[in-house]
This record gives sequence, C-alpha cells and structure tokens, in this order.
Amino acid sequence: MRAILVVVTLIVMAIAAPIMAAQKVELSIDASKRGAKIDRNLFGQFAEHLGHGIYDGIWVGSDSTIPNTRGIRNDVVAALKVIHVPNVRWPGGCFADEYHWRDGIGPQRVVRLNPNWGGVIEPNTFGTHEFMDFIDQIGSEAYVSVNLGSGSPHEAADWLEYMTAAQVTTLEKERAANGHPAPYKVAWLGLGNESWDCGGNMTPEYYLDRMKIFSRFVRNYNPAQMEKDQMLKIAVGPGGGEQRWTDWTETVMKAYQQHTWSWDINGLSMHNYTVVKWPPAFKSVGFGEDEYAQILKTTLDIDDLINKHSAIMDKYDPQKKVALVVDEWGGWYAPLPGSNPGFLVQQNSLRDAILAALNISIFARHADRVRGANIAQMINVLQAMILTDHEKMVLTPTYYVYKMYVPFQDSTFVPVTFDAGSYKHGDFTLPRVDAMAAKGKDGKLWVGITNVDPHQAAEVELNVTGINAKSASGETLTAPKVDSVNTFEAPNTVVPKPILARAQGGKLILQLEPKSVTVVSVEQ
Ligand code: AHR
Repeated sequence: MRAILVVVTLIVMAIAAPIMAAQKVELSIDASKRGAKIDRNLFGQFAEHLGHGIYDGIWVGSDSTIPNTRGIRNDVVAALKVIHVPNVRWPGGCFADEYHWRDGIGPQRVVRLNPNWGGVIEPNTFGTHEFMDFIDQIGSEAYVSVNLGSGSPHEAADWLEYMTAAQVTTLEKERAANGHPAPYKVAWLGLGNESWDCGGNMTPEYYLDRMKIFSRFVRNYNPAQMEKDQMLKIAVGPGGGEQRWTDWTETVMKAYQQHTWSWDINGLSMHNYTVVKWPPAFKSVGFGEDEYAQILKTTLDIDDLINKHSAIMDKYDPQKKVALVVDEWGGWYAPLPGSNPGFLVQQNSLRDAILAALNISIFARHADRVRGANIAQMINVLQAMILTDHEKMVLTPTYYVYKMYVPFQDSTFVPVTFDAGSYKHGDFTLPRVDAMAAKGKDGKLWVGITNVDPHQAAEVELNVTGINAKSASGETLTAPKVDSVNTFEAPNTVVPKPILARAQGGKLILQLEPKSVTVVSVEQ
C-alpha cells in the first residue's frame, strides 16, 4: 500500500512539475550607468491625528505601564529607527486644516473634538513638543502641514516663529519656557492639505492666492536652515488624473513659472490611494486572487498619474526645481469589522508588501521629479507599518519592505532591462515581474525584484556588466497566501528570510518564490 502511495505521489509530482516550473527572467544591469538620485524622502511616513495613529500608536503618556520615554512608546521608536524614517508628515491630512497649534502646547491643553475622524475627543496632549521629541527619538525630520483652511497666515507664521526662532522673541521665550530653548528644525512645510476637498473646497485660483500669502509670511527662522537645509515648501497638488486635477496642476505650476521673489514653492503634493472605487470596499484580509490581481493592477495606475502631472510640470518647470511629492499613498480598504469606521483600521497583508514594492519602484523610476512620498499612514491607520493594541505591537508586511529597501535611500538609480512577462487572472493582466536597481551610498549595487505571480516562481538570470559581479545575497519576503498577515498572536507569518544567488556561466541566478519581494546586494 505504501509503495502504491509513493508511486502515485511521484506521478502527481511529475505532472505538476511543468506547471510549477519557474519562469525564466533575464535581467540586465550595466552597473556603470547612472540615473537620478533616489531621494531618501521617498520613504517618508504620515502620522495624522486619526484613530489610533497618534494616541496609543505613538503616545501613551509618561504615566503609562507601557514602556515609554517622555510618553512616547519605546517599542514603536525602536522599530521605526530600524527603517530610517526620513521624514514624518504631521498633524494631517484633513486634521491639519482644523488644527490650532496653541491647543497643543504648554501645561494646559485645549480639549477639542476631531470631527473629521470619528468625532472623538482630541486631548491635544500630543502637540508640537511631543511631535518634535518623537521625531528626534526616531532620528527623522519634521514635515509640518500648516492650517491653510480654517487658520490664518498669522497663526501659521506664529507657529513657525515659535518652533524655529533663535533670537529672543516672545514666542521664542514661550518655547523655551515650555522646555525647548533650542530652535526646532522644520525640514518640510505643507501649505494646506487637499484644499480642493476637506481642506476647504477651494478652486485652484482661490487656493493659489491664499497659498502665496502663506508662502510669503510663514517663515523659518532657524539659523541652521538659512543656507543649507532650507525648509521646503510644498503646495497642495492633484488628487487624481481627471481634468479638475490637471487644471489644478496647470494653475499652480503656471503661476510658479512667473513667481517673483516674494513667494516660492519647492514641491507640489499629489495624493493617490489604491482603492478601486469609493467608498473603499475591498477587504484587507480574507480575500482571494481576484482582489489580489485587481488591487495590484490598480496600484500600477500611479505611473500614468505621475506621467500626466509631470508633463504639466515639465512645461512650466523644465529644470525640475519643483518636486512632485506623493505625500499620501497606499492601499485603502474597508474598515475592519467591529472597528470605528472613522478610524480607518485595516489589516496589512502580503499583498500590501507587494503593492508597496511596486510603488517604490515606480517612484524610483521617476526620481528626477518625484523626490518625496509619504505612505498613509505610519501606525494603526490604512497601510500601516505598525499595529498596536495597548501593550502589544506587531510589524506589518509593509514594514518589512521598508526595512529591506533602506539601502535605496539616497542611492543612485541604475537602469535595468528585462522582459517582465505577464501574469493574467480573469480580466486582469499585469507585468509578472518588476525590478529596480541602484548604487547605494555604501557603494554597492542593490537590486529589488518583485514576483507578482502568486503561482509561479521566477528564475532570474542577473547579467551584470560594468562590475565584476561574483555573488548576490539579501532577503526575500513571501508567505503562504496572498492575504497572509502578521497578528499579535502570530507576528512572524510574513517576515523576510535570507536569499542567495548562485553564480552560473558568468551570471547570477536567483530563485524567487511566487508572490514575493526580494532585495539583494551584488558582491564584487
Ligand atoms: O489619510 C486619510 C485622509 O485621506 C487624509 O486625512 C486626507 O488628506 C485624505 O483624504
């Protein structure tokens, strides 16, 4: 009986083998070629006062039993340090255009409601000083969005003076009295958020008039940011590809072309969520291949969107002085059953890891124009890096992609040629494989490859010229199912494992599992 079973098993394996055979992909890299710098700010994060993004996610208060430093969770800080977060956009989102900074400083905080996100109490215990402390603890930089909707230029100008003045002014003294004599650094300044919608439903012309006033008067006084490290001002940009958005980009960029000394911008924001249609209805866990293929197909549309808006920007700014900053992006799915729908709580699966890798690769291909991007959002909200529940914390599959891609921060793009092939499922056809390469700050050649196909492995033949490539090694991320997730109970379902290329006939051969993200460095 046992012998019969063995024979049957062998026959089944023999039949199955050709179906499961790895697809061959030839990938050529001329390591002597160079493209644009892949700005580390493409790996930025976004933390809004929304659900448990700030409270519980970052802030637990200094009297909490959860280990913390001055109220900020130690476990979260330790995890974020590993992924070298270049900047954090705060306090919103829609929240920013209703935020009044004075509510969040000093010993007596103003308790308000958060009408955008569930109508819950906003205690303002996490304000300017706590945010700056958090940024400092994780080794990041501040991307502060000022209230251009319901606030005034005066209020925003005062906030910047409060944060950045080194000379003894009343606001500087107030900051010192509140515990921080040294001026803070504000690396990026957001001039409003989605001013075409939650930020005040403005026309592009009205926004432009208002934005110029903010750009003129909201100044950074930090002496360390006068020459180098000047604060970058980011104007509100498009939220899609339709005419209302191209009109918006046209209006702002046309004005930029003729701007005078009295106002300036360094970036135009773009928001793009992978949602298929509003309201978000796709499940974040417990889905099958249909939803896998459709979401990933949809996420690739961001390439066309970038092309469309870049073309308008090129018309008015051929020297690419103004960056396109995709400061909200990611998968946006239906709220998890039982959660407050205003808290935007969703799980994070292997599909999201693949989605993240595909987006990063698209940003890198546009690195000459796209010089900033902030995934939405950092903790407990939308496509998060980290999920927390009181004292528990778990790292998501997206977190691991960010960890694996750290070497690409401030690297230099190196072109890759390959035939991606195609992965078909139902009505959806996608490139089977995606790849990017870069010369890292460490001098090494780094290659990131995503195998989108959930069934077939890929055998990648890496043909590297321009250097003497001897081997390649790194990490690969996959999991049993497309909707595999990490949970507090099972945190290691989707975690990277080591991968090694074998050398064969002057080439490096990498065996990539189905539905996987891989990053390797090439040794010479
Ligand atoms: O990220 C959630 C929300 O999405 C942001 O507050 C807003 O800018 C966007 O519409």
